[in-house]
Amino acid sequence: MFLAFFSFPSRNRMLKLEFRPHSMDFLHGLNPQQQEAVAHVEGPLLLLAGAGSGKTRVITHRIAHLVEAHRVPGPCILAVTFTNKAADEMRQRVNSLLGGLSSRESPQVSTFHSFCVRTLRRDGARLADIRPGFTPKFTIYDDDDQVALIKSIFRSVGLDEKFMQYRAVCSWISHRKSRNETPAHVYSSSTDPNTTRLASVYEQYEARLRQANALDFDDLLLETVRLLAHDTSLRFQYNRRFEFLMIDEYQDTNHTQYELMRTSSATIRMPR
Ligand SMILES: Nc1ncnc2c1ncn2[C@@H]1O[C@H](COP(=O)(O)OP(=O)(O)OP(=O)(O)O)[C@@H](O)[C@H]1O
Ligand SMILES: [Mg+2]
Repeated sequence: MFLAFFSFPSRNRMLKLEFRPHSMDFLHGLNPQQQEAVAHVEGPLLLLAGAGSGKTRVITHRIAHLVEAHRVPGPCILAVTFTNKAADEMRQRVNSLLGGLSSRESPQVSTFHSFCVRTLRRDGARLADIRPGFTPKFTIYDDDDQVALIKSIFRSVGLDEKFMQYRAVCSWISHRKSRNETPAHVYSSSTDPNTTRLASVYEQYEARLRQANALDFDDLLLETVRLLAHDTSLRFQYNRRFEFLMIDEYQDTNHTQYELMRTSSATIRMPR
């Protein structure tokens, strides 16, 4: 069983009044359950269906239906998924349904990470209040950059790969970050010298990222969540803008991704 998406309108749009019955019919060619999901406008919706049964098709048709039949401006719709490949495919499917929309009129279809990069680059300046030294021209550290950084930290503290493989350290740090555990948390809960050493590596890793105005992949999500929590006017702006949110493969969202979508959108009730 797979969950396809969750969505809601974030403010009281008079959708029924705006319905245009003679617009292009994006309900055509769908089975009754798909039609019901595509035609659903008000309130959250969770779609559960098996692999290859047409969940992404529902999302793309629903986007087209909202734009065409309900006159929802494209930029008020955000659709997110996990991989670049899936996002590209979804974007192409939406474009082929709607055709001819300029990039300013298009719905935003992206991965969680690209949504964050875009947010931090365009609207992230105030993150500097809570992440000193941050600027929207930050660098993104990929896996290889992370490994190089861990290697350099190991050298500076006299550890080598026998202590722990570099990539395993990266995963360990990523796991801590996904649980919102700072180096200070790890220090305070550590009961053995190896964990304390790892806490020290983690602390230096964080310090070096900040010095370089760099973010790793986990930070892209975490810092966007923090930015939206911190910058109230930006959060309101996003809440007003993203009236319709759709998440493909919703079952795969982790806590941070869930928080990100929850804060980007308004007063919402998300199933969990
Ligand atoms: N009602 C339908 N009539 C005809 N073809 C359909 C219908 N629904 C889906 N399809 C086709 O089935 C294929 C799979 O659809 P889609 O990618 O939307 O499924 P999915 O549930 O998202 O799959 P996955 O589990 O792989 O993400 C596509 O080629 C799509 O065009
Ligand atoms: Mg799909």
